[in-house]
Amino acid sequence: MSIFDYRKYSPYTPVKKHVRRWPDKIIQKAPVWCSVDLRDGNQALIEPLAPTQKLEFFNLLVDIGLKEIEVGFPAASKPDFDFVRQLIEEGLIPNDVTIQVLTQAREELIAKTFEALKGANSVIIHLYNSTSVIQREQVFCKSKQEIKEIAVQGAVWVKEYAMRQPETKWQFQYSPESFTGTELEYAVEVCNAVNAVWEPTPSSPVIINLPATVEMSTPNVYADQIEWMCDHIAQRDSIIISLHTHNDRGCAIAAAELGLMAGADRIEGTLLGNGERTGNMDIVIAAMNLYSQGIDPQLNLMNIDRIIQTVESCTQLKVHPRHPYVGELVFAAFSGSHQDAINKCLAKYQQGETWRVAYLPIDPRDVGRTYQEVIRINSQSGKGGIGYVLASKYGWQLPRWMQVDFSPVVQYEAERIESEVSVEVIYALFKNNYLNINNAWKIGSFNILNDNKIVKLYITLTREQCTITIQADGQGPLEAFVRALTQQFGYHIDIVSYNEHTLGVNENSEAITYIQANINGQRYCAAGQSRDIVQASFLALLNAIAKYERIKVD
Ligand code: KIV
Ligand code: ZN
Repeated sequence: MSIFDYRKYSPYTPVKKHVRRWPDKIIQKAPVWCSVDLRDGNQALIEPLAPTQKLEFFNLLVDIGLKEIEVGFPAASKPDFDFVRQLIEEGLIPNDVTIQVLTQAREELIAKTFEALKGANSVIIHLYNSTSVIQREQVFCKSKQEIKEIAVQGAVWVKEYAMRQPETKWQFQYSPESFTGTELEYAVEVCNAVNAVWEPTPSSPVIINLPATVEMSTPNVYADQIEWMCDHIAQRDSIIISLHTHNDRGCAIAAAELGLMAGADRIEGTLLGNGERTGNMDIVIAAMNLYSQGIDPQLNLMNIDRIIQTVESCTQLKVHPRHPYVGELVFAAFSGSHQDAINKCLAKYQQGETWRVAYLPIDPRDVGRTYQEVIRINSQSGKGGIGYVLASKYGWQLPRWMQVDFSPVVQYEAERIESEVSVEVIYALFKNNYLNINNAWKIGSFNILNDNKIVKLYITLTREQCTITIQADGQGPLEAFVRALTQQFGYHIDIVSYNEHTLGVNENSEAITYIQANINGQRYCAAGQSRDIVQASFLALLNAIAKYERIKVD
Protein backbone atom coordinates (compact mmCIF):
# COMPACT_ATOMS: atom_id res chain seq x y z
CA MET A 1 0.00 0.00 0.00
CA SER A 2 1.31 3.44 -0.85
CA ILE A 3 0.83 6.20 1.70
CA PHE A 4 -2.01 7.87 -0.19
CA ASP A 5 -4.23 4.83 -0.59
CA TYR A 6 -8.02 5.02 -0.47
CA ARG A 7 -8.26 1.29 0.30
CA LYS A 8 -7.30 2.14 3.88
CA TYR A 9 -10.85 3.50 4.38
CA SER A 10 -14.29 1.96 4.37
CA PRO A 11 -17.59 3.62 3.48
CA TYR A 12 -20.04 4.76 6.14
CA THR A 13 -23.01 2.42 6.48
CA PRO A 14 -26.18 4.31 5.59
CA VAL A 15 -29.33 4.13 7.72
CA LYS A 16 -31.72 1.38 6.65
CA LYS A 17 -34.89 3.35 6.18
CA HIS A 18 -37.82 2.60 3.89
CA VAL A 19 -39.66 5.84 4.34
CA ARG A 20 -38.05 9.24 4.58
CA ARG A 21 -40.30 12.17 5.39
CA TRP A 22 -37.63 14.80 5.86
CA PRO A 23 -36.81 15.38 2.13
CA ASP A 24 -40.28 16.88 1.66
CA LYS A 25 -40.09 19.15 4.69
CA ILE A 26 -39.37 22.89 4.53
CA ILE A 27 -37.78 24.80 7.38
CA GLN A 28 -40.34 27.39 8.42
CA LYS A 29 -39.02 28.76 11.68
CA ALA A 30 -35.77 29.31 13.50
CA PRO A 31 -34.58 26.58 15.86
CA VAL A 32 -33.64 27.29 19.45
CA TRP A 33 -30.02 28.39 19.14
CA CYS A 34 -27.36 27.52 21.66
CA SER A 35 -23.87 28.96 21.40
CA VAL A 36 -21.02 26.70 22.42
CA ASP A 37 -18.33 29.30 21.63
CA LEU A 38 -17.23 29.61 25.24
CA ARG A 39 -16.89 25.85 25.69
CA ASP A 40 -16.38 23.81 22.50
CA GLY A 41 -14.97 26.83 20.68
CA ASN A 42 -12.73 27.76 23.60
CA GLN A 43 -11.49 24.19 24.07
CA ALA A 44 -10.31 24.22 20.45
CA LEU A 45 -8.16 27.34 20.72
CA ILE A 46 -4.39 27.32 20.80
CA GLU A 47 -4.63 30.02 23.45
CA PRO A 48 -7.88 29.70 25.41
CA LEU A 49 -9.85 32.87 26.02
CA ALA A 50 -8.71 35.19 28.78
CA PRO A 51 -11.42 36.11 31.35
CA THR A 52 -11.94 39.55 29.80
CA GLN A 53 -12.29 38.00 26.36
CA LYS A 54 -14.81 35.47 27.65
CA LEU A 55 -16.89 38.29 29.04
CA GLU A 56 -16.63 40.32 25.86
CA PHE A 57 -17.72 37.27 23.86
CA PHE A 58 -20.55 36.50 26.30
CA ASN A 59 -21.86 40.07 25.98
CA LEU A 60 -21.72 39.82 22.20
CA LEU A 61 -23.74 36.59 22.29
CA VAL A 62 -26.32 38.21 24.56
CA ASP A 63 -26.55 41.30 22.33
CA ILE A 64 -27.07 39.18 19.25
CA GLY A 65 -30.00 37.51 20.96
CA LEU A 66 -28.71 34.10 22.04
CA LYS A 67 -30.92 32.80 24.87
CA GLU A 68 -28.93 29.64 25.60
CA ILE A 69 -25.18 29.99 26.03
CA GLU A 70 -22.80 27.21 27.04
CA VAL A 71 -20.35 29.12 29.19
CA GLY A 72 -17.81 26.45 29.97
CA PHE A 73 -16.76 23.17 31.51
CA PRO A 74 -16.34 24.46 35.08
CA ALA A 75 -15.18 21.17 36.62
CA ALA A 76 -12.47 20.73 34.01
CA SER A 77 -10.82 24.12 34.10
CA LYS A 78 -10.30 26.74 36.79
CA PRO A 79 -10.76 29.68 34.39
CA ASP A 80 -14.13 28.21 33.36
CA PHE A 81 -15.11 27.72 37.02
CA ASP A 82 -14.11 31.30 37.85
CA PHE A 83 -15.92 32.66 34.81
CA VAL A 84 -19.18 30.97 35.82
CA ARG A 85 -18.79 32.39 39.33
CA GLN A 86 -18.13 35.85 37.93
CA LEU A 87 -21.26 35.74 35.75
CA ILE A 88 -23.41 34.71 38.70
CA GLU A 89 -21.86 36.87 41.43
CA GLU A 90 -21.74 40.01 39.31
CA GLY A 91 -25.27 39.50 38.01
CA LEU A 92 -24.12 39.52 34.39
CA ILE A 93 -26.67 37.03 33.04
CA PRO A 94 -29.86 38.67 31.73
CA ASN A 95 -33.11 37.19 33.08
CA ASP A 96 -34.10 35.74 29.73
CA VAL A 97 -30.74 34.02 29.15
CA THR A 98 -30.00 30.48 30.36
CA ILE A 99 -26.40 29.46 30.80
CA GLN A 100 -25.33 25.91 29.98
CA VAL A 101 -22.37 24.02 31.42
CA LEU A 102 -20.80 20.76 30.34
CA THR A 103 -19.87 17.89 32.61
CA GLN A 104 -18.75 14.32 32.34
CA ALA A 105 -20.62 11.58 34.18
CA ARG A 106 -18.27 11.48 37.18
CA GLU A 107 -19.50 12.37 40.63
CA GLU A 108 -16.59 14.59 41.64
CA LEU A 109 -16.96 16.58 38.41
CA ILE A 110 -20.72 16.86 38.79
CA ALA A 111 -20.26 18.04 42.38
CA LYS A 112 -17.76 20.69 41.28
CA THR A 113 -20.08 21.77 38.47
CA PHE A 114 -22.95 22.35 40.88
CA GLU A 115 -20.62 24.20 43.21
CA ALA A 116 -19.77 26.58 40.35
CA LEU A 117 -23.47 27.17 39.76
CA LYS A 118 -24.55 28.16 43.28
CA GLY A 119 -26.97 31.08 43.14
CA ALA A 120 -27.67 30.85 39.38
CA ASN A 121 -31.22 31.57 38.17
CA SER A 122 -31.55 29.24 35.24
CA VAL A 123 -29.09 26.58 34.04
CA ILE A 124 -28.88 23.75 31.52
CA ILE A 125 -26.67 20.96 32.89
CA HIS A 126 -25.15 19.20 29.90
CA LEU A 127 -24.09 15.65 30.71
CA TYR A 128 -22.22 13.57 28.16
CA ASN A 129 -20.39 10.33 27.68
CA SER A 130 -19.06 8.70 24.59
CA THR A 131 -21.13 5.90 23.09
CA SER A 132 -19.61 5.05 19.69
CA VAL A 133 -18.26 1.65 18.70
CA ILE A 134 -14.71 2.99 18.39
CA GLN A 135 -14.81 4.71 21.77
CA ARG A 136 -16.38 1.70 23.51
CA GLU A 137 -14.06 -0.85 22.00
CA GLN A 138 -10.78 1.03 21.63
CA VAL A 139 -10.74 3.89 24.10
CA PHE A 140 -12.76 2.77 27.14
CA CYS A 141 -12.72 -0.98 26.53
CA LYS A 142 -16.24 -1.24 27.94
CA SER A 143 -19.35 -3.11 26.89
CA LYS A 144 -22.56 -1.44 25.75
CA GLN A 145 -24.09 -2.16 29.14
CA GLU A 146 -21.17 -0.56 31.00
CA ILE A 147 -21.27 2.56 28.84
CA LYS A 148 -25.04 2.87 29.38
CA GLU A 149 -24.51 2.54 33.13
CA ILE A 150 -22.06 5.45 33.06
CA ALA A 151 -24.75 7.62 31.44
CA VAL A 152 -27.49 6.49 33.79
CA GLN A 153 -25.33 6.93 36.89
CA GLY A 154 -24.38 10.41 35.67
CA ALA A 155 -28.06 11.24 35.22
CA VAL A 156 -28.79 10.06 38.75
CA TRP A 157 -26.05 12.26 40.23
CA VAL A 158 -27.14 15.27 38.19
CA LYS A 159 -30.72 14.87 39.41
CA GLU A 160 -29.64 14.45 43.05
CA TYR A 161 -27.31 17.45 43.03
CA ALA A 162 -29.94 19.59 41.32
CA MET A 163 -32.46 18.76 44.02
CA ARG A 164 -30.01 20.10 46.61
CA GLN A 165 -30.03 23.54 44.90
CA PRO A 166 -33.75 24.20 44.42
CA GLU A 167 -33.27 27.97 44.09
CA THR A 168 -32.08 27.37 40.52
CA LYS A 169 -34.33 26.45 37.59
CA TRP A 170 -32.59 23.38 36.15
CA GLN A 171 -32.92 21.84 32.75
CA PHE A 172 -31.08 18.63 31.89
CA GLN A 173 -29.32 17.81 28.65
CA TYR A 174 -27.71 14.56 27.61
CA SER A 175 -25.34 13.99 24.67
CA PRO A 176 -24.38 10.52 23.51
CA GLU A 177 -21.00 11.87 22.41
CA SER A 178 -19.77 10.45 19.08
CA PHE A 179 -23.42 9.77 18.21
CA THR A 180 -22.66 9.47 14.50
CA GLY A 181 -20.35 6.54 15.29
CA THR A 182 -22.98 4.87 17.49
CA GLU A 183 -25.54 2.25 16.40
CA LEU A 184 -28.94 3.99 16.37
CA GLU A 185 -30.69 1.25 18.39
CA TYR A 186 -28.04 1.58 21.06
CA ALA A 187 -28.08 5.40 21.04
CA VAL A 188 -31.83 5.46 21.62
CA GLU A 189 -31.50 2.82 24.32
CA VAL A 190 -28.99 4.96 26.23
CA CYS A 191 -31.03 8.16 25.78
CA ASN A 192 -34.21 6.42 26.96
CA ALA A 193 -32.38 5.07 30.00
CA VAL A 194 -31.15 8.57 30.90
CA ASN A 195 -34.64 9.98 30.42
CA ALA A 196 -36.10 7.26 32.64
CA VAL A 197 -34.02 8.83 35.42
CA TRP A 198 -34.81 12.45 34.58
CA GLU A 199 -38.54 11.86 33.92
CA PRO A 200 -39.16 14.69 31.48
CA THR A 201 -42.62 16.12 30.87
CA PRO A 202 -43.91 18.37 28.10
CA SER A 203 -43.66 21.34 30.46
CA SER A 204 -40.25 20.29 31.76
CA PRO A 205 -38.54 18.71 28.75
CA VAL A 206 -35.08 17.15 28.59
CA ILE A 207 -32.68 18.14 25.80
CA ILE A 208 -31.25 15.20 23.90
CA ASN A 209 -28.31 16.50 21.91
CA LEU A 210 -27.19 14.28 19.03
CA PRO A 211 -23.68 15.33 18.05
CA ALA A 212 -21.87 14.66 14.83
CA THR A 213 -18.78 14.80 17.03
CA VAL A 214 -16.93 13.81 13.90
CA GLU A 215 -18.75 14.36 10.63
CA MET A 216 -18.55 10.93 8.98
CA SER A 217 -21.17 10.83 6.24
CA THR A 218 -23.12 12.88 3.77
CA PRO A 219 -25.67 15.17 5.47
CA ASN A 220 -28.65 13.13 4.24
CA VAL A 221 -27.44 10.22 6.38
CA TYR A 222 -27.32 12.50 9.44
CA ALA A 223 -30.89 13.59 8.61
CA ASP A 224 -31.94 9.92 8.43
CA GLN A 225 -30.38 9.37 11.85
CA ILE A 226 -32.19 12.36 13.34
CA GLU A 227 -35.55 11.35 11.85
CA TRP A 228 -34.99 7.82 13.13
CA MET A 229 -34.20 9.11 16.65
CA CYS A 230 -37.27 11.39 16.61
CA ASP A 231 -39.42 8.41 15.65
CA HIS A 232 -37.97 5.97 18.18
CA ILE A 233 -37.17 7.96 21.29
CA ALA A 234 -39.64 7.50 24.14
CA GLN A 235 -41.79 10.46 25.21
CA ARG A 236 -40.93 12.53 22.13
CA ASP A 237 -43.31 15.26 23.30
CA SER A 238 -41.15 15.74 26.40
CA ILE A 239 -37.85 15.83 24.54
CA ILE A 240 -36.10 18.69 22.76
CA ILE A 241 -34.00 17.15 20.00
CA SER A 242 -30.82 19.17 19.62
CA LEU A 243 -28.16 19.05 16.89
CA HIS A 244 -24.44 19.63 17.31
CA THR A 245 -22.56 19.23 14.06
CA HIS A 246 -18.87 19.49 13.30
CA ASN A 247 -17.47 20.33 9.91
CA ASP A 248 -15.01 17.51 9.15
CA ARG A 249 -16.43 16.97 5.65
CA GLY A 250 -17.35 20.61 5.18
CA CYS A 251 -21.09 19.96 5.56
CA ALA A 252 -21.84 21.02 9.15
CA ILE A 253 -24.38 23.60 8.00
CA ALA A 254 -26.03 21.25 5.52
CA ALA A 255 -26.20 18.48 8.11
CA ALA A 256 -27.80 20.81 10.66
CA GLU A 257 -30.31 22.11 8.11
CA LEU A 258 -31.32 18.62 7.00
CA GLY A 259 -31.43 17.63 10.68
CA LEU A 260 -33.94 20.41 11.29
CA MET A 261 -36.03 19.16 8.38
CA ALA A 262 -35.84 15.73 10.00
CA GLY A 263 -37.52 17.04 13.13
CA ALA A 264 -34.90 18.60 15.41
CA ASP A 265 -35.83 21.60 17.53
CA ARG A 266 -32.53 23.10 18.55
CA ILE A 267 -29.02 23.69 17.20
CA GLU A 268 -25.71 24.15 18.95
CA GLY A 269 -22.94 25.97 17.13
CA THR A 270 -20.46 28.80 17.22
CA LEU A 271 -20.17 32.24 15.68
CA LEU A 272 -18.27 31.96 12.40
CA GLY A 273 -17.62 28.26 13.01
CA ASN A 274 -14.68 28.06 15.42
CA GLY A 275 -14.41 24.67 17.12
CA GLU A 276 -12.55 21.38 17.27
CA ARG A 277 -10.55 20.52 14.10
CA THR A 278 -12.58 21.96 11.19
CA GLY A 279 -14.91 23.67 13.60
CA ASN A 280 -18.48 23.60 14.81
CA MET A 281 -21.49 24.55 12.77
CA ASP A 282 -21.48 28.29 12.10
CA ILE A 283 -24.52 29.92 13.67
CA VAL A 284 -24.07 33.07 11.58
CA ILE A 285 -24.34 31.18 8.28
CA ALA A 286 -27.21 29.02 9.53
CA ALA A 287 -29.13 32.07 10.72
CA MET A 288 -28.42 34.06 7.56
CA ASN A 289 -29.57 31.10 5.46
CA LEU A 290 -32.93 31.33 7.20
CA TYR A 291 -32.99 35.12 6.92
CA SER A 292 -32.37 34.99 3.17
CA GLN A 293 -35.41 32.70 2.84
CA GLY A 294 -37.63 35.27 4.52
CA ILE A 295 -37.59 33.51 7.91
CA ASP A 296 -36.95 35.47 11.10
CA PRO A 297 -33.71 33.93 12.44
CA GLN A 298 -34.44 35.30 15.94
CA LEU A 299 -30.91 36.65 16.04
CA ASN A 300 -29.79 40.15 15.13
CA LEU A 301 -26.74 39.86 12.90
CA MET A 302 -26.87 43.37 11.52
CA ASN A 303 -23.64 44.43 13.17
CA ILE A 304 -21.51 41.84 11.41
CA ASP A 305 -18.38 43.94 11.81
CA ARG A 306 -18.63 43.76 15.61
CA ILE A 307 -19.09 39.99 15.37
CA ILE A 308 -16.06 39.64 13.10
CA GLN A 309 -13.88 41.89 15.24
CA THR A 310 -14.78 40.14 18.49
CA VAL A 311 -14.42 36.64 17.09
CA GLU A 312 -11.14 37.44 15.34
CA SER A 313 -9.59 39.12 18.35
CA CYS A 314 -10.76 36.45 20.81
CA THR A 315 -9.92 33.38 18.72
CA GLN A 316 -6.91 34.86 16.92
CA LEU A 317 -8.34 33.27 13.79
CA LYS A 318 -8.95 35.37 10.68
CA VAL A 319 -12.24 35.17 8.87
CA HIS A 320 -11.72 33.88 5.34
CA PRO A 321 -12.41 36.58 2.69
CA ARG A 322 -14.92 34.25 1.07
CA HIS A 323 -16.65 33.17 4.30
CA PRO A 324 -20.39 33.08 3.44
CA TYR A 325 -22.24 36.34 4.18
CA VAL A 326 -19.41 38.01 6.12
CA GLY A 327 -16.14 37.62 4.20
CA GLU A 328 -14.46 40.66 2.68
CA LEU A 329 -15.09 39.44 -0.87
CA VAL A 330 -18.51 37.83 -0.70
CA PHE A 331 -20.33 40.90 -1.97
CA ALA A 332 -17.66 41.85 -4.50
CA ALA A 333 -18.30 41.42 -8.19
CA PHE A 334 -15.28 41.56 -10.49
CA SER A 335 -16.74 39.96 -13.58
CA GLY A 336 -18.19 42.35 -16.12
CA SER A 337 -21.30 40.29 -16.84
CA HIS A 338 -22.03 39.92 -13.12
CA GLN A 339 -21.57 43.65 -12.60
CA ASP A 340 -23.90 44.39 -15.45
CA ALA A 341 -26.59 42.09 -14.09
CA ILE A 342 -26.23 43.49 -10.56
CA ASN A 343 -26.49 47.06 -11.85
CA LYS A 344 -29.66 46.29 -13.78
CA CYS A 345 -31.30 44.53 -10.84
CA LEU A 346 -30.28 47.22 -8.35
CA ALA A 347 -31.70 49.90 -10.62
CA LYS A 348 -35.05 48.07 -10.58
CA TYR A 349 -35.03 47.26 -6.87
CA GLN A 350 -37.16 49.58 -4.74
CA GLN A 351 -36.63 49.80 -0.99
CA GLY A 352 -39.03 47.49 0.84
CA GLU A 353 -39.72 45.16 -2.09
CA THR A 354 -38.76 41.50 -2.19
CA TRP A 355 -35.05 41.26 -2.91
CA ARG A 356 -34.46 39.96 -6.46
CA VAL A 357 -30.89 40.80 -7.39
CA ALA A 358 -28.77 38.51 -9.52
CA TYR A 359 -25.59 37.25 -7.82
CA LEU A 360 -26.48 38.83 -4.46
CA PRO A 361 -28.44 36.39 -2.29
CA ILE A 362 -28.97 39.10 0.33
CA ASP A 363 -28.95 42.88 0.38
CA PRO A 364 -25.37 43.76 1.48
CA ARG A 365 -26.76 46.66 3.52
CA ASP A 366 -28.43 44.16 5.86
CA VAL A 367 -24.99 43.25 7.18
CA GLY A 368 -23.53 46.74 7.14
CA ARG A 369 -22.06 46.67 3.64
CA THR A 370 -22.77 49.21 0.93
CA TYR A 371 -23.58 48.85 -2.73
CA GLN A 372 -20.44 50.85 -3.50
CA GLU A 373 -18.34 47.97 -2.23
CA VAL A 374 -20.12 45.48 -4.46
CA ILE A 375 -18.66 46.40 -7.81
CA ARG A 376 -14.90 45.92 -7.78
CA ILE A 377 -12.68 46.47 -10.77
CA ASN A 378 -9.93 44.19 -12.00
CA SER A 379 -8.82 43.02 -15.43
CA GLN A 380 -11.97 40.84 -15.71
CA SER A 381 -14.34 43.70 -15.12
CA GLY A 382 -16.54 45.29 -17.70
CA LYS A 383 -17.68 48.76 -18.55
CA GLY A 384 -20.85 48.53 -16.45
CA GLY A 385 -18.84 48.09 -13.28
CA ILE A 386 -16.59 51.03 -14.04
CA GLY A 387 -19.60 53.24 -14.70
CA TYR A 388 -21.17 52.00 -11.47
CA VAL A 389 -18.23 52.84 -9.20
CA LEU A 390 -17.84 56.33 -10.66
CA ALA A 391 -21.58 56.96 -10.36
CA SER A 392 -21.88 55.70 -6.81
CA LYS A 393 -18.76 57.41 -5.44
CA TYR A 394 -18.51 60.61 -7.53
CA GLY A 395 -21.95 61.02 -9.10
CA TRP A 396 -20.61 60.74 -12.64
CA GLN A 397 -23.19 59.16 -14.96
CA LEU A 398 -20.91 58.00 -17.76
CA PRO A 399 -22.95 57.34 -20.90
CA ARG A 400 -22.60 53.87 -22.38
CA TRP A 401 -20.36 55.01 -25.24
CA MET A 402 -18.02 56.68 -22.74
CA GLN A 403 -17.89 53.51 -20.62
CA VAL A 404 -16.97 51.56 -23.75
CA ASP A 405 -14.13 54.00 -24.49
CA PHE A 406 -12.88 54.12 -20.90
CA SER A 407 -13.04 50.42 -20.05
CA PRO A 408 -9.80 49.40 -21.90
CA VAL A 409 -7.93 52.17 -20.07
CA VAL A 410 -8.92 50.67 -16.73
CA GLN A 411 -8.33 47.15 -17.94
CA TYR A 412 -4.83 48.08 -19.08
CA GLU A 413 -4.11 49.54 -15.64
CA ALA A 414 -5.44 46.41 -13.89
CA GLU A 415 -3.20 44.22 -16.03
CA ARG A 416 -0.22 46.52 -15.48
CA ILE A 417 -0.50 46.48 -11.68
CA GLU A 418 -1.74 42.86 -11.69
CA SER A 419 -4.32 43.69 -9.08
CA GLU A 420 -7.62 45.30 -8.29
CA VAL A 421 -7.97 48.96 -9.33
CA SER A 422 -9.41 51.17 -6.60
CA VAL A 423 -12.20 53.60 -7.30
CA GLU A 424 -9.82 56.49 -6.55
CA VAL A 425 -7.42 55.28 -9.25
CA ILE A 426 -10.31 54.87 -11.70
CA TYR A 427 -11.31 58.45 -10.95
CA ALA A 428 -7.75 59.68 -11.57
CA LEU A 429 -7.52 57.68 -14.79
CA PHE A 430 -10.74 59.22 -16.01
CA LYS A 431 -9.56 62.74 -15.23
CA ASN A 432 -6.22 62.21 -16.93
CA ASN A 433 -7.74 60.66 -20.01
CA TYR A 434 -10.78 62.86 -20.55
CA LEU A 435 -10.78 65.97 -18.38
CA ASN A 436 -7.34 67.36 -17.67
CA ILE A 437 -5.56 67.04 -20.96
CA ASN A 438 -2.39 69.06 -21.18
CA ASN A 439 -1.68 71.61 -23.88
CA ALA A 440 -5.32 72.14 -24.71
CA TRP A 441 -6.53 75.57 -25.62
CA LYS A 442 -7.91 77.41 -22.60
CA ILE A 443 -11.08 79.47 -22.68
CA GLY A 444 -10.49 83.14 -21.82
CA SER A 445 -14.02 84.41 -22.07
CA PHE A 446 -17.03 84.04 -24.31
CA ASN A 447 -20.21 85.85 -25.14
CA ILE A 448 -23.38 84.41 -26.60
CA LEU A 449 -26.04 86.49 -28.35
CA ASN A 450 -29.36 85.02 -29.41
CA ASP A 451 -30.57 86.41 -32.66
CA ASN A 452 -33.84 84.95 -33.93
CA LYS A 453 -33.07 81.32 -33.03
CA ILE A 454 -29.49 81.74 -34.20
CA VAL A 455 -26.75 81.82 -31.59
CA LYS A 456 -23.83 84.21 -32.19
CA LEU A 457 -20.72 83.17 -30.28
CA TYR A 458 -17.69 85.35 -29.56
CA ILE A 459 -14.97 83.43 -27.78
CA THR A 460 -11.40 84.17 -26.70
CA LEU A 461 -9.00 81.22 -26.49
CA THR A 462 -5.48 81.16 -25.10
CA ARG A 463 -2.65 78.74 -25.50
CA GLU A 464 0.69 79.52 -23.92
CA GLN A 465 1.45 83.11 -25.13
CA CYS A 466 -1.15 83.08 -27.89
CA THR A 467 -4.63 84.63 -27.56
CA ILE A 468 -7.24 84.58 -30.30
CA THR A 469 -10.85 85.70 -30.50
CA ILE A 470 -13.08 83.83 -32.89
CA GLN A 471 -16.71 84.18 -33.84
CA ALA A 472 -19.32 81.94 -35.47
CA ASP A 473 -23.07 81.30 -35.60
CA GLY A 474 -24.98 78.11 -34.96
CA GLN A 475 -28.27 76.69 -33.77
CA GLY A 476 -26.78 76.29 -30.33
CA PRO A 477 -23.60 77.36 -28.55
CA LEU A 478 -21.79 74.06 -29.21
CA GLU A 479 -22.59 74.11 -32.90
CA ALA A 480 -21.35 77.70 -33.07
CA PHE A 481 -18.15 76.70 -31.27
CA VAL A 482 -17.59 73.81 -33.68
CA ARG A 483 -17.95 76.20 -36.59
CA ALA A 484 -15.62 78.75 -35.00
CA LEU A 485 -12.92 76.11 -34.50
CA THR A 486 -13.39 74.79 -38.01
CA GLN A 487 -13.04 78.24 -39.51
CA GLN A 488 -9.99 79.08 -37.41
CA PHE A 489 -8.04 75.81 -37.49
CA GLY A 490 -9.46 73.96 -40.46
CA TYR A 491 -10.63 70.93 -38.47
CA HIS A 492 -13.51 68.88 -39.70
CA ILE A 493 -15.59 68.21 -36.57
CA ASP A 494 -18.82 66.21 -36.12
CA ILE A 495 -20.36 65.81 -32.69
CA VAL A 496 -21.24 62.10 -32.59
CA SER A 497 -22.55 61.87 -29.02
CA TYR A 498 -23.25 64.39 -26.32
CA ASN A 499 -24.47 63.96 -22.71
CA GLU A 500 -24.53 66.31 -19.77
CA HIS A 501 -25.65 66.37 -16.15
CA THR A 502 -25.06 68.37 -13.02
CA LEU A 503 -22.98 67.00 -10.16
CA GLY A 504 -25.14 68.39 -7.39
CA VAL A 505 -28.49 69.88 -6.62
CA ASN A 506 -27.91 73.60 -5.99
CA GLU A 507 -27.16 76.44 -8.40
CA ASN A 508 -23.45 76.38 -7.54
CA SER A 509 -23.11 72.74 -8.52
CA GLU A 510 -20.75 71.89 -11.31
CA ALA A 511 -21.94 70.40 -14.57
CA ILE A 512 -20.19 67.72 -16.55
CA THR A 513 -20.50 67.11 -20.26
CA TYR A 514 -19.32 64.07 -22.18
CA ILE A 515 -18.54 64.43 -25.84
CA GLN A 516 -17.68 62.02 -28.59
CA ALA A 517 -16.42 64.04 -31.55
CA ASN A 518 -15.25 62.90 -34.95
CA ILE A 519 -12.24 65.08 -35.73
CA ASN A 520 -10.77 64.74 -39.18
CA GLY A 521 -12.14 61.21 -39.51
CA GLN A 522 -11.29 59.82 -36.06
CA ARG A 523 -13.51 59.61 -32.99
CA TYR A 524 -12.31 61.08 -29.70
CA CYS A 525 -14.09 61.00 -26.35
CA ALA A 526 -13.58 63.71 -23.79
CA ALA A 527 -15.32 65.49 -20.94
CA GLY A 528 -15.55 68.99 -19.53
CA GLN A 529 -16.48 70.20 -16.07
CA SER A 530 -17.56 73.68 -15.07
CA ARG A 531 -20.20 75.58 -13.13
CA ASP A 532 -21.44 76.80 -16.51
CA ILE A 533 -22.94 74.01 -18.60
CA VAL A 534 -22.04 75.77 -21.89
CA GLN A 535 -18.46 76.22 -20.74
CA ALA A 536 -18.39 72.55 -19.73
CA SER A 537 -19.40 71.54 -23.26
CA PHE A 538 -16.71 73.82 -24.79
CA LEU A 539 -14.07 72.36 -22.48
CA ALA A 540 -15.13 68.85 -23.46
CA LEU A 541 -14.67 69.70 -27.13
CA LEU A 542 -11.28 71.33 -26.50
CA ASN A 543 -10.18 68.23 -24.62
CA ALA A 544 -11.28 66.08 -27.57
CA ILE A 545 -9.23 68.27 -29.88
CA ALA A 546 -6.24 68.05 -27.54
CA LYS A 547 -6.46 64.25 -27.75
CA TYR A 548 -6.56 64.46 -31.53
CA GLU A 549 -3.52 66.73 -31.58
CA ARG A 550 -1.61 64.54 -29.16
CA ILE A 551 -2.22 61.45 -31.25
CA LYS A 552 -1.37 63.37 -34.43
CA VAL A 553 1.96 64.43 -32.91
CA ASP A 554 2.74 60.92 -31.59
O1 KIV B 1 -18.79 17.37 19.58
C1 KIV B 1 -19.27 16.84 20.60
O2 KIV B 1 -19.68 15.68 20.60
C2 KIV B 1 -19.35 17.63 21.81
C3 KIV B 1 -20.13 17.04 22.91
C4 KIV B 1 -19.57 17.33 24.23
C5 KIV B 1 -21.56 17.44 22.77
O3 KIV B 1 -18.88 18.73 21.85
ZN1 ZN C 1 -18.47 19.47 19.77
